Amino acid sequence: MSLTPMKAVIPAAGLGTRFLPATKAMPKEMLPVVDKPAIQYVAEEAARAGIDDILVIIGRNKNAISDHFDSVPELEDRLKDKGDTVRLRRVLESSDLADMHFVRQGEPKGLGHAVLRAKAHVGDCSFAVMLGDDLIDERDELLSLMIAEHERTGGAAVIALMEVDPDHIDAYGVASVEQTGAEGIVKVTGLVEKPRKEDAPSNLAVIGRYVLAPRVFDVLERTEPGKGGEIQLTDALQALATDPDGPGVYGVIFRGRRYDTGDRVDYIKAIVQLAADRDDLGPALRPWFKEFAAGL
Ligand code: UTP
Repeated sequence: MSLTPMKAVIPAAGLGTRFLPATKAMPKEMLPVVDKPAIQYVAEEAARAGIDDILVIIGRNKNAISDHFDSVPELEDRLKDKGDTVRLRRVLESSDLADMHFVRQGEPKGLGHAVLRAKAHVGDCSFAVMLGDDLIDERDELLSLMIAEHERTGGAAVIALMEVDPDHIDAYGVASVEQTGAEGIVKVTGLVEKPRKEDAPSNLAVIGRYVLAPRVFDVLERTEPGKGGEIQLTDALQALATDPDGPGVYGVIFRGRRYDTGDRVDYIKAIVQLAADRDDLGPALRPWFKEFAAGL
């Protein structure tokens, strides 16, 4: 649990072009991972870290997201009448998670622009940013460690980093770092968005969890469009990391299980892994997976 109650911001206003045509009329954050939409896992992770106020940044075609977190009295009544308490509990889970708020981005001008839309709701407090298509396995701890690190360092930001294969580094924001002496905690000295393999300063990729001090809003307001013509959160973090008068940016290196459900291969892996591990589905699926793999 976090010592300081913090708000979370889930940007979910991207176009999801890697998942077309599935995402033509449906947000990628609503794609089911086994039997829950991806964004519900993210909201559950926030709740586990003690966060009870979540702002989702939504865009075109995103009404399904707000509908998902609303209660649906006619559905609940029907399940109650049938005595289907198991399904009723599962339906109520999404509407009881946290105090949910929604803000529109209007046009998808980049992750940095989406985060800036949270300024009025977040106010002058530190907050967490959790990408709505990036899942951290609930058996592995990350966000609560980042919040604790933010409280300890008083830095401008704590970001989550993960070692990735250098051949895939050009899909990520990448950090240059210095060791701090604490296991798994680094000082971030610079960041670059989607570098070519030969230009990457390390194999430490930025993944979709951030704890940010409110000063990031001032920096985002001054940040010009960068890579892809979008206002990049990475560029604002780079400015904070290299500000000689600022309190610095720190990184928590995550070595657990993470699934990028915005990527088709990772999305399929997430479903297979999570379903195989579940008590209700695993026993029926595991023998079939073995048989299937043997035939490959
Ligand atoms: P991505 O770059 O993964 O999302 O952004 P995308 O642009 O929707 O995906 P592709 O590449 O076209 O398939 C990371 C997160 O930031 C959000 C996305 O919804 C995603 O959760 N985002 C991105 C916004 O909220 N607004 C934006 O303008 C861009």
